[in-house]
Amino acid sequence: MSNNNIQIFDTTLRDGEQVPGCKLNTEQKLVIAEQLDELGVDVIEAGFPVSSPGDFKSVEEISKIVKNATVCGLTRSVQNDIKVAAEALKYAVKPRIHTGIGTSDSHIIHKFKTTQEDILQRAFAAVKYAKSFVEDVEFYAEDAGRTDNEFLARVCETAIKAGATVLNIPDTTGYCLPSEYGAKIKYLKENVKGIEKAILSCHCHNDLGLATANSIEGVINGARQIECTINGIGERAGNTALEEVVMVLKQHPYLDLDTNINTSMLYGMSQLVSDSMGIYTQPNKAIVGSNAFAHSSGIHQDGVIKNRETYEIIDPKDVGVTDSAIVLTARSGRAALAYRAKKVGYELTKLQLDEVYADFLSFADKKKEIDDSDIHQIIEKSKLYQ
Ligand code: KIV
Ligand code: ZN
Repeated sequence: MSNNNIQIFDTTLRDGEQVPGCKLNTEQKLVIAEQLDELGVDVIEAGFPVSSPGDFKSVEEISKIVKNATVCGLTRSVQNDIKVAAEALKYAVKPRIHTGIGTSDSHIIHKFKTTQEDILQRAFAAVKYAKSFVEDVEFYAEDAGRTDNEFLARVCETAIKAGATVLNIPDTTGYCLPSEYGAKIKYLKENVKGIEKAILSCHCHNDLGLATANSIEGVINGARQIECTINGIGERAGNTALEEVVMVLKQHPYLDLDTNINTSMLYGMSQLVSDSMGIYTQPNKAIVGSNAFAHSSGIHQDGVIKNRETYEIIDPKDVGVTDSAIVLTARSGRAALAYRAKKVGYELTKLQLDEVYADFLSFADKKKEIDDSDIHQIIEKSKLYQ
């Protein structure tokens, strides 16, 4: 792995599956895991094995079929969680245990009713115990986004001393600004003793719509793993969207940060996850929404027909979308009508187009969107063909 390679840690099947009302069965999880492996993710977080027998079984079955990616199971800093996760991961070619504990004052005082020193001891013990089962141990400092940086650095040093290979810095509540999150990662890179023995990981939630921006700031400032989900699904406002961070890095090559993702699978992956979970992405969702490559206003359509790049920064084929869509509405111009008419077999002269355009507009005023059969009808009914 080059120093500029960003590891993609997919948690669709763990943090993503925490969406209210969504439950995948083991079969559905296996299909998604297989596709994630093909997509090229580096790590698949397959579940939280101690949470239920079903989750244990899913992690165990996924461990058996995944060929390339590391398979990871989540635990709390609790011995039994770690033992159960190790058991569920025993068939994985590359197993990883993801253990951790809350580190913000809010978690220490209200959730654990304890002290910072006790949190450090629990963190050390959990990583050490996990290391007795697997070599690859990731430590998460829950609510790191609201944890004081000096204490967070001590937590990271403790986890590294116990053998952690990855340090996850979650903005659990999606509170940080991109500049703050980036500065936090930079601070840890510069102040944690032994940091060269581990990589820093971004795990950002989307409560303020900043998950993608925060993850990108994290990697610009030295993190080398991004934790994300397909379509950005997850509890509350969700997690960082995998397709967004991957395409941000791809479309900005001067950042010199790349991933191992086969981007032409992104659209299909998004559809698979939506369909399996019964959660539909909003039409304007970046990269994979149904309108992400659709143009409906006359000015934009004219520009795109002349040169796609006028209004598109991504070639739709790069993410697995066959083509840009020129949507015909009452706001479309002659260029769009001529373009769509040609696609269905009518090569219109300028004069013919003027003629048909008037009929098209009165038709379009009555209908939201004009489809191919409407185009046939409008042209066939026009004076041109009488
Ligand atoms: O958001 C979070 O803090 C988490 C951890 C459990 C990794 O999902
Ligand atoms: Zn999370």
